[in-house]
Amino acid sequence: MPLAPPKTRPHNPCFSSGPCAKRPGWCPEALGDAWLGRSHRAKGGKARLAEVIARSRSILGLPDGYRLAIVPASDTGAVEMALWSLLGARGVDMLAWESFGSGWVTDAAKQLKLNDMRIMQADYGKLPDLSKVDRMRDAVFTWNGTTSGVRVPNGDWIADSRAGLTICDATSAVFAMDLPWAKLDVVTWSWQKVLGGEAAHGMLALSPRAVERLETYRPAWPLPKIFRLTKDGKLNEEVFTGATINTPSMLCVEDALDSLRWAEEIGGLPALIARAEANLAVVADWVAAREWVDFLAEDPATRSCTSICLKIVDPWFQALPAPEQAAAAKAVAAHVEKAEAGYDIAAYREAPPGLRIWGGATVAREDMQALLPWLDWAYGKVKGARGK
Ligand SMILES: Cc1ncc(COP(=O)(O)O)c(C=O)c1O
Repeated sequence: MPLAPPKTRPHNPCFSSGPCAKRPGWCPEALGDAWLGRSHRAKGGKARLAEVIARSRSILGLPDGYRLAIVPASDTGAVEMALWSLLGARGVDMLAWESFGSGWVTDAAKQLKLNDMRIMQADYGKLPDLSKVDRMRDAVFTWNGTTSGVRVPNGDWIADSRAGLTICDATSAVFAMDLPWAKLDVVTWSWQKVLGGEAAHGMLALSPRAVERLETYRPAWPLPKIFRLTKDGKLNEEVFTGATINTPSMLCVEDALDSLRWAEEIGGLPALIARAEANLAVVADWVAAREWVDFLAEDPATRSCTSICLKIVDPWFQALPAPEQAAAAKAVAAHVEKAEAGYDIAAYREAPPGLRIWGGATVAREDMQALLPWLDWAYGKVKGARGK
């Protein structure tokens, strides 16, 4: 392990998994034209909200007939309004393999108290058996498990002829991974992840079949105003044109537009995906040449290119009692942060001890390359300080 610190640092040391690094070259002046101090329902305000929807649709290639809305309360708001509005019409398969997916299981089991529910869970690093998902039932899952760095490899396990709805929390996947839209009936995300926008609002995409469910099914439980997507039994179409349910932050809207314009300038979705995959490739090469560290994702096909989660496999570390493992992993992240080489790279608080490095599209490959030697340095420091 090298004891001397590396000579170079990443130009941008931001590797948090949310809010994520701003796009290269971002500065507050990018928000100079924000629609501030004016009503979001005035023509100019509504036009900006509609522009976020239009640019997002176009970059992502949403199929015709899919609706897209800006909704309250970030990704959580978007997911929960879908769960509360749609679940209960038929049985549901709830899939979870890390903290956020488990949160949706809790919603379905303890809050909605659904009785026809199958829970398909897997430990950190693994996926549940996707082939067990029943096409007659609804399915709720995350595309990318942000806290384990495990993503579903594709949508082949989702039947085209399904009768149930697929509800997909894709917040750390959208704009960095190819999504098979026709297989997804509800897709949610937020602005602060892959495009590095400001956190505030959620995005909710609905397939025609999801809309049909909304118009034909009335849940047994009450729906608060911020969850209501229908009016008199019909879809509230206005919400999908930028007439938000309640007041949005127009500063965040401006920032979202800035990030979407950047995405277009660099070449749209293929370029965004290529940037994230390049970051994963840099980490994969580095991991392959190291004995002390490995991916938390067991199957390489499921390794996330955004929330890249690593475990420490060095026998010395493995022999430590669990609390000391957690402390040692945190100390590695703390050394890197103190050296201003990389911020916020500790594993998620509920995940196994280790490191989590965001590799989404706003992170430059050169910065990822510059970060990794600091991990060797910090690990050597932690191990050395503990008598090895
Ligand atoms: C998979 C997943 N779901 C939900 C959330 C919560 O998102 P938000 O804070 O935007 O509501 C996150 C945040 O990291 C996430 O990664």
